[in-house]
Amino acid sequence: MIDDLFAREAGDVQWLAPGVCLLPGYLLPELEPLLDALREVLAAAPLRRVNTPSGQPLSVAMSNCGALGWVSTAQGYCYVREDPQSGQPWPALPPLLQRLSWQAAQRAGFADFAADACLINRYRPGARMGLHQDRDEADFRQPIVSFSLGLPATFLLGGLQRRDRVQRLRLQHGDALVWGGPARLRYHGILPLEAGEHPRMGAQRINLTLRRAAP
Ligand code: SIN
Ligand code: FE2
Repeated sequence: MIDDLFAREAGDVQWLAPGVCLLPGYLLPELEPLLDALREVLAAAPLRRVNTPSGQPLSVAMSNCGALGWVSTAQGYCYVREDPQSGQPWPALPPLLQRLSWQAAQRAGFADFAADACLINRYRPGARMGLHQDRDEADFRQPIVSFSLGLPATFLLGGLQRRDRVQRLRLQHGDALVWGGPARLRYHGILPLEAGEHPRMGAQRINLTLRRAAP
């Protein structure tokens, strides 16, 4: 069952559930330097389509920056130090992303968050992300910090079990969403992106998911 529980209001910090915190428009004051940093990263490690371990193509295009990058291989999902496409280390995590993710976590009540991995997902209209848990990281005490850019998307927030009720949350350009603590292993996903044209980003949504992957 899907429930439209979370109406969005203007404001700095919105607690949506225990351990789930939305920071509306959080990225907007530093948007241009953030986009500059992202452009550099994607020049070194371009977005690419990948398959699930069972060989199904994912509808999002992905890349990474940071010491570790999340990849899907025939053996499963894992974090690796090198971009399998180039054989080179992933581009370094831009200091701005390190700081913005630390500060977002801090505002959400998670002290000392030090991201070492940033997954970059690019959604074109129609692209989606099925319900899943983020569970390839070493330490579940560290939260997930997620940044949204471009077209709005409907985020599905499930529970700790796949069968649990799913709530909907609209994520807008510039928003940060942090989940951790009791919410760290909640299922989540993205409904198919609706067609549109974002004035700054064009016909796409980019999501940056910052994590602490290594212990
Ligand atoms: C993810 O769970 O990896 C992506 C979530 C999002 O695109 O907001
Ligand atoms: Fe995820």
